Amino acid sequence: MLKKIENKAEKEIKKAQTLKELNRVFKDFLGKKGELSLVLRGLKDLSEKEKINRGKKANELKERLKVKFNKKKIEIGSESQFDKYKGIDVTIPSKKPLMGHLSPLTQVKRRIIDIFRGIGFEVVDGPEIENEWYNFDALNIPQDHPARDAWDTFWLKGKKPLLLRTHTSPSQIRYMEKNQPPLRIISLGKGFRHEATDASHEMQFYQVEGLMVGEDVSAANFKAIVKQFFETFFEQNINVRFTPDYFPFTEPSFEVAMSCLICKGKGCSACKKTGWVEIGGAGMVHPNVFKSCKLDINKWQGWAFGFGIDRLTMMKYKINDIRLIHSGDLRFLNQF
Ligand code: DAH
Repeated sequence: MLKKIENKAEKEIKKAQTLKELNRVFKDFLGKKGELSLVLRGLKDLSEKEKINRGKKANELKERLKVKFNKKKIEIGSESQFDKYKGIDVTIPSKKPLMGHLSPLTQVKRRIIDIFRGIGFEVVDGPEIENEWYNFDALNIPQDHPARDAWDTFWLKGKKPLLLRTHTSPSQIRYMEKNQPPLRIISLGKGFRHEATDASHEMQFYQVEGLMVGEDVSAANFKAIVKQFFETFFEQNINVRFTPDYFPFTEPSFEVAMSCLICKGKGCSACKKTGWVEIGGAGMVHPNVFKSCKLDINKWQGWAFGFGIDRLTMMKYKINDIRLIHSGDLRFLNQF
């Protein structure tokens, strides 16, 4: 009889697939009214000799079955816990997480700030929405001055004439209104012009404005600082060219150009086949600009410049079309 119970129990333990099934089998054999429990309880009606004999065997069976239940319980438990991982190859390399990084433009802006801070320049900010005074009049570009045509302006709708600044030069005025020379500042930010785009022109562009004013600040200082800036920024010897130019807010004025690093001066689309890339304008601050800021024109003199950050970025990373920089195209951006 015990042998029969044992065989049956073993078969059912084997068959059980889930813990619930296994518990049921346990109850059938070892529960209060389980088959083996009944046998054990029936021992008391037997003779002393049989009690010892059968009792021993029944208890041994009970222990054996308990061991089998426990083993099966572990089996079922561990299987169901890891079932969901079946078929997974843990040796396959995981997916690379998408990591963001700084855009080339931001990297260049930070580098410019680093270099100028290193030689004692302060970094100042200015608003992108300006009025005519800061963008034009204070910079010696009066209402009827033909030079206003050179800056194709985005005007904003409204009662007061407001505009998107056409250059970062207004930040010179804002700073000199509030601060006495001697001073050395740079100001980085966006400029906007309503003009056709091509490989080297965008409607929205970044400029860095520079201004140094003191009692004895000359164009020779400017040349030295610009050359040093270019060579630190590009980490090589750079040919810099100054040619006469015209800006209402400087006198004399010059255009600052560097030899094209993309074609090494041979001529390409980025340099309009000239071998030179115009980086920006510069000059000695015009007395009328000092007057706008109520500074003594007999005491102070200085130079200013406005460079295209996009142009510097193009040269640094050999990008031949300015429009790529703002395209937001990840195939482009992921290269930096
Ligand atoms: N603001 C000029 C432009 O965007 C660039 C410029 C020229 C800035 C001469 C200056 C300067 O500070 O002195 O066309």
